[in-house]
Amino acid sequence: MSKKNIAVLTSGGDSPGMNAIIRAVVRTCVFYDKNVFGVIRGYDGLMEGDFMSMNARSVKGILSQGGTILKSARSDFFRTIEGRKKAAINLKSKKIDGLIVIGGDGTLTGAHLLNEEHGIPVIGIPGTIDNDLFGTDSTIGFDTACNTVKSCIDKIRDTANSHNRLFIVEVMGRDAGFIALNSGVSTGALEIVLPEMNTSIDELLESVERGAKNKKTSNIIVVAEGNRLGSPFEISKSIISRYPKIDVKVTILGHVQRGGSPSSLDRVNASILGVAAVEGLLNGKSDVMVGLVNNHLEYTFLQQAIFNKAPLNMELHRIAKILSI
Ligand code: F6P
Repeated sequence: MSKKNIAVLTSGGDSPGMNAIIRAVVRTCVFYDKNVFGVIRGYDGLMEGDFMSMNARSVKGILSQGGTILKSARSDFFRTIEGRKKAAINLKSKKIDGLIVIGGDGTLTGAHLLNEEHGIPVIGIPGTIDNDLFGTDSTIGFDTACNTVKSCIDKIRDTANSHNRLFIVEVMGRDAGFIALNSGVSTGALEIVLPEMNTSIDELLESVERGAKNKKTSNIIVVAEGNRLGSPFEISKSIISRYPKIDVKVTILGHVQRGGSPSSLDRVNASILGVAAVEGLLNGKSDVMVGLVNNHLEYTFLQQAIFNKAPLNMELHRIAKILSI
């Protein structure tokens, strides 16, 4: 418990629940009588020395807010040795003896390199809607994003039904299909097109045909942005060229998925992980990500969290197929 000064930052794409993590980190530091500094705009702020001293009241009222009060950035300069050296000099000059980073795989990669090159003790907390990190069942923001997608597709379903239309809905997730798979099941999609699978256009067309035979009045095809079949517009074209009479519409949900008040699950998990990150750091842990696996806290080496593939529950895809009949 010899550490005295701890810094926290959010980096990469923001996710709902990042504020809940910041609150937990700051208040746990105060609880253990440590000084805590927020770094503004992620690694950019770290390299520019943009730090602010925080206390328990600095984080009042943020538990329910989306986004991140510390701001975020995707920093190209921090990817360089020179950039990380600049950041390390700032941390050392401010006598920071532990850094907590909140973000996705790019953020955790940066933290690992900072630790490897400059010996700065670091702990990562998974904050991304993509859910693509190994060592935690659910990244903070994933549950909220899935709930947002569910609400949007439910609304699309109403209008799809009224007009007997087929909608192709593109969701985020970069090169991972977690959001698509989860929201496809929760909204009763006809098909779910994932980056992890080689779905062919013929398979989609077969499902569309089956739907028509079974007198379905609306169809939703959920496609992950990183899927291998192509853009939703290309998929739409292929369907129309085979079935010109089908009324096909495309909706790209985009950044609406990143905003909003975090769900109860994200708030609770964010609180657990925020406390665990500070306690882990104070107990000498470093170069690890803290996560929840089967409801148990686990510290996974950053390199493993980034490079091991987070498992997608393919059973859900089979279930969706059965239920879309
Ligand atoms: O990683 C989160 C994420 O929202 C991805 O799902 C998406 O591909 C990407 O970020 C979008 O990034 P940006 O907001 O920089 O366009």
